[in-house]
Amino acid sequence: MDRERIERALLPQLLRLRPFRPEDESPARAAHAAMRPEGFPFLLDYTDGEPWRRYLERREANRRGERLPGQWVPSTFLAATVEGRLVGRISVRHELNSWLATYGGHIGYAVVPELRRRGYASEILRQGLIIARSVGIDEVLVTCDVSNVASAGVIEGCGGVFESVASGDGTPKRRYWFR
Ligand SMILES: CC(C)(COP(=O)(O)OP(=O)(O)OC[C@H]1O[C@@H](n2cnc3c(N)ncnc32)[C@H](O)[C@@H]1OP(=O)(O)O)[C@@H](O)C(=O)NCCC(=O)NCCS
Repeated sequence: MDRERIERALLPQLLRLRPFRPEDESPARAAHAAMRPEGFPFLLDYTDGEPWRRYLERREANRRGERLPGQWVPSTFLAATVEGRLVGRISVRHELNSWLATYGGHIGYAVVPELRRRGYASEILRQGLIIARSVGIDEVLVTCDVSNVASAGVIEGCGGVFESVASGDGTPKRRYWFR
């Protein structure tokens, strides 16, 4: 078995979700910059130049439901690492506002561009579902743009049950449930 296949088999042990830390600053900023051309933020609600510690404090406050920007709901924002390397991130929303209930869903994730197609997002979502249940969400809604073949593959591979396409807010979204 080659190294990649061994790593895939071991991903449930190798991939960890944990809070972002001070030492993640450089790789997290690099991932954010690398994803900028895709128009998808690696770091949520991040302003270039914001001191990293302050950013971490804001994410921790948001987890507790404090200092929420705009229409935000409480959420848990975690780094995904494999053998200490930052490979992705996940946001688990603890509840849904009306936009999230139709378009955004409970969970959003991303994998740094150069580390895709290794099964990381699938493992991130699997572990994220456990985190969602741990904050009291029994039925987890996960959505993706209709055009996002990669994310649809991740959701379907993890067992998400397709419900419908939601249109009316710009890009149509595919809606899936984990029950
Ligand atoms: C979507 C995203 C998270 C997928 O990350 P990933 O780690 O590459 O996904 P995985 O390796 O777990 O892929 C699982 C399966 O999804 C499908 N898939 C993933 N990327 C794909 C692609 N580019 N094209 C077609 N199918 C794809 C495949 O079936 C894949 O299984 P395989 O590699 O065994 O064939 C990543 O592309 C990303 O970060 N995109 C930008 C942010 C984003 O769209 N986030 C999701 C918001 S809903």
